[in-house]
Amino acid sequence: VTVFVPRDAAALAVGADKVAAAIAREAEARGEDVRIVRNGSRGMLWLEVLVEVRTEKGRMAYGPVRAADVASLFDAGFLTGADHPLGHGLTKEIPFLKGQTRLTFARCGVTDPLSLEDYRHYQGLKGLEKAIALSPAEIVAQVTQSGLRGRGGAGFPTGIKWKTVADAKADQKYIVCNADEGDSGTFADRMIMEGDPFVLIEGMAIAGIAVGATKGYVYTRSEYPHAIAVMQEAIEIARRDGILGASVLGSPYAFDMEVRVGAGAYVCGEETSLLNSLEGKRGVVRAKPPLPALQGLFGKPTVVNNVMSLASIPVILDRGPEFYRDFGVGRSHGTIPIQLAGNLKHGGLYETAFGLPLGQLVNEIGGGTISGRPVKAVQVGGPLGAYFPPSLFDTIFDYEAFTAAGGLIGHAGVVVFDDSVDMLKQARFAMEFCAVESCGKCTPCRIGSTRGVEVVDRIARGIEPEKNKVLLEDLCNTMKFGSLCALGGFTPYPVMSAMTHFPEDFAPTPLVEA
Ligand code: NAI
Ligand code: SF4
Repeated sequence: VTVFVPRDAAALAVGADKVAAAIAREAEARGEDVRIVRNGSRGMLWLEVLVEVRTEKGRMAYGPVRAADVASLFDAGFLTGADHPLGHGLTKEIPFLKGQTRLTFARCGVTDPLSLEDYRHYQGLKGLEKAIALSPAEIVAQVTQSGLRGRGGAGFPTGIKWKTVADAKADQKYIVCNADEGDSGTFADRMIMEGDPFVLIEGMAIAGIAVGATKGYVYTRSEYPHAIAVMQEAIEIARRDGILGASVLGSPYAFDMEVRVGAGAYVCGEETSLLNSLEGKRGVVRAKPPLPALQGLFGKPTVVNNVMSLASIPVILDRGPEFYRDFGVGRSHGTIPIQLAGNLKHGGLYETAFGLPLGQLVNEIGGGTISGRPVKAVQVGGPLGAYFPPSLFDTIFDYEAFTAAGGLIGHAGVVVFDDSVDMLKQARFAMEFCAVESCGKCTPCRIGSTRGVEVVDRIARGIEPEKNKVLLEDLCNTMKFGSLCALGGFTPYPVMSAMTHFPEDFAPTPLVEA
């Protein structure tokens, strides 16, 4: 009998290793022939550790399982898929999973992340094989036709970026994968690296062939030790199997890659700062132009793409650009892996075509708050994203719709707060975060953020609140239009949205004389 116990960090954090050990022990004691596969996570985080058993009917799910539950699972006959209080029936029928369109995450949680046999069995390497049969220009054209836009946050068309690099003349070009996932409430990049590393390798190899780059780097953070280990092992396996190296799958193209680990500065997720860090320099932002596409790593033309963008490439090449393009709405094509986090009953990874309303994600799919209190605010797009009140819940997941509503999708992290949150404190936090994480290169961000904390504090203490609110807005405009990169430039989003949508939290508190 095959039993699946995730090796994803979210599962490990709630005792997956102990659960796996308990299952092995119990099986041996009972004389049961059990093979334990350490898969990735299905992304239903409230059910972790989610144990699955392969039965004739399909994979049956049990969760959240702790080591102490294992004996009772055996007693109930879970190896045959029998009922148990922790049972959820067939995994694929669990509503949270059933409602999704999994293209990028198709294999995550299904396969053993380090089994190439599994990878091939579930359509792996088909995209790369098809890419090799095309010319590099045709690959770029297909990526452009698919409508894929950068999933790191900015939503820039991936095909156009690739074309810029492909057209540049240079003796050396690079593919850099931005895996420095720093946004609050986001974990999609980590989940792919831990749960399906070959899809990222395949996507990077295709990118390399398309633009003429022979070397790739995955830049990730030291806080992701499991992702680093899995990626490194997967790269070794891919080299041994001829997927990476002097001749990619026997083709005339060479491509190899390695993992580089940063120390976890938020600003190193900004592409030019990342490149500096990768070159061994301090992670300070570079002025653009020149674009990294023309002068990137070590001054050479470089594709810098997020994990999600690169991991979406294989399915586009395999199924064709139209297949991918047909999902979504408006100019937002394909699927987006949304990460539901914060005060939610059902947090996790929800991949869906663009177009779902925010309210449906929070109230139906996420099941509302875990505290049972009303939702007050939802921050979409990380610490630099805007706070949305429930009155904006009809905003659909679409780059343009979010911009029109004064927000951004960013890396598609959704963090939910109930009515106990103080939005003035959240605004203060945004300024404080910016002050701590600022690279210091430009004045609006370096100094403005510290002044911002002071102004918010004055409003909180009721010191000339109306005058200080005007001052805060003025400061936000200076930061928004005067900062060199998104860190200083986007900090005004959480601050201004908090002040606009929740004015009651910025109401003057009369000074009480001591
Ligand atoms: P950007 O709009 O300046 O650039 C987007 C990308 O397009 C860059 O890679 C840029 O080099 C490229 N580009 C622009 N014009 C080009 C051209 N003509 N040819 C080729 N390439 C071109 O945005 P930026 O500063 O790279 O990213 C900001 C975004 O990052 C924000 O929207 C935010 O949501 C997101 N973000 C994501 C985080 C995460 O953890 N994933 C953390 C913080 C911010
Ligand atoms: Fe550095 Fe902040 Fe300026 Fe970005 S906005 S370049 S992080 S000082």
